[in-house]
Amino acid sequence: KNISPTIIVIFGATGDLAKRKLFPAFQNLFLDGRLDEKFKIIALGRAEKSDDEFRSYVVENLNTFSRRTANCDERTQEFISHISYLRHDIDKEESYYQLDSKLKDIDAGFGERANRLFYLSITPSFITTISAYMKKIGLAANEKQDRIIIEKPFGYDKTSAIALNEMLSQTFKEEQIYRIDHYLGKETVQNILAFRFGNSMFEPLWSRNFIDFVQITVAEEVGVEERGGFYEGVGALKDMIQNHLLQILCMTAMEAPASLRADDIRNRKADVLKSIRRIKPDEVDHYIVRGQYDAGFIKGNPVPGYRQDKGIAPDSNTETYVAMKIYLDNWRWQGIPFYLRTGKRMEEKQSSIIIQFKPVPHSSFSYGKEGMTPNRLIINIQPAMDIKLQFMTKKPGLSLSLRPAEMVFDYFSCSTMSPEAYETLIGDALAGDPTLFMRWDQVEEAWDAIETIQQVWKNTPPTNFPNYKAGSWGPEEADELLARQGHKWVSNTQE
Ligand code: BG6
Repeated sequence: KNISPTIIVIFGATGDLAKRKLFPAFQNLFLDGRLDEKFKIIALGRAEKSDDEFRSYVVENLNTFSRRTANCDERTQEFISHISYLRHDIDKEESYYQLDSKLKDIDAGFGERANRLFYLSITPSFITTISAYMKKIGLAANEKQDRIIIEKPFGYDKTSAIALNEMLSQTFKEEQIYRIDHYLGKETVQNILAFRFGNSMFEPLWSRNFIDFVQITVAEEVGVEERGGFYEGVGALKDMIQNHLLQILCMTAMEAPASLRADDIRNRKADVLKSIRRIKPDEVDHYIVRGQYDAGFIKGNPVPGYRQDKGIAPDSNTETYVAMKIYLDNWRWQGIPFYLRTGKRMEEKQSSIIIQFKPVPHSSFSYGKEGMTPNRLIINIQPAMDIKLQFMTKKPGLSLSLRPAEMVFDYFSCSTMSPEAYETLIGDALAGDPTLFMRWDQVEEAWDAIETIQQVWKNTPPTNFPNYKAGSWGPEEADELLARQGHKWVSNTQE
């Protein structure tokens, strides 16, 4: 698709996301030829800065955060020359008029009205003000050419998400709104669709008939770092489950889309969210475990507990860990548990999907000390990026006993090209492809799926926090959640 000429406007250009993710993504899109010569980036920020000052700040950060090495230096300098800085005050109307005239000047230089991409890399509370001024001044008035990217969180519950969507719809058409969930831009997450629907041999097994349970883990070693102020009061349910984990669940459980058109895929994903069984308030404790980390060790180094982290209340009840059991009420998955867990300060960084198949109906073999291992398909999203199929084979030797073995596909064995999630997603938004972005109904449905949990937790604060040690795999209750069904959390490296 022709994306030229394009002007990218970044609100919050001096913030953390912009320096770590956005500028490296734009740089790489430029170096890869996805942004041609006719593009400009207008960086908006509150501080007074000259273009040169801001450009050196970007260069400094690219050296730290970009995946590109120094051999692209000359071209990177060229990329930098496309960036200009504009002091902007979100609450002041005149700032938007200044932006408007800058946009028009650039259009005049291009000799045509450029496409506009507005990136809202700001605290959600500013979205309403920005949209209102954009509407008033008509900054994104061209429905075909102008788009807006919005970062999560999209609201903090179902009601606020609906209100946010309604508010946005007064300024923008749904086709102009790109709601980012950066997990969907990850190569290995997109590969789930390729793997499931580009092969004929897995799909016939992909149902309640052959699968025993599915486990989705997104574990992080990091704590809340510098983000205590944001994270406190938000917690893992809203920060990770409502978006990233439910999106991975959708990719794993969805029906085959009729085509790869954005809405065909998004419809099938929305079906999964709709089919998530809504639990009753008195079932919350039965299906969900929450946790908060205490001081402990990560890879041998001591780390403080959550309540001692910067910006966190000493008696905080914010959860940093969630494990839950989900049932999907549909034909394919009826009765099959999907176990989801995510946590900060876990033993190791690991995002994976484990599909455990049903055990053989009968076996007369003898087994080594590992015992009988069920067949498993392990999809590692990060940091390992591979797919493993685990099965039993004969142990070499005179007797007929079995041992587990595995076949491994390493995603990058045939290529070192690894675009960052933000490159993929911004490139798609520039090209007008919303497939990997969240449609309004997906967001609302995902909030709906966790609404009861939010309400119950609000009314019944935890009494046992902190309840897991930093560097562990979470609270013991999470093991009990699976043990009730005779299941266990599976490690992604386990044979
Ligand atoms: C963000 C969450 O959306 O995802 C963070 O707000 C979390 O709390 C991050 O650390 C994890 O992303 P990634 O790509 O590092 O797995």
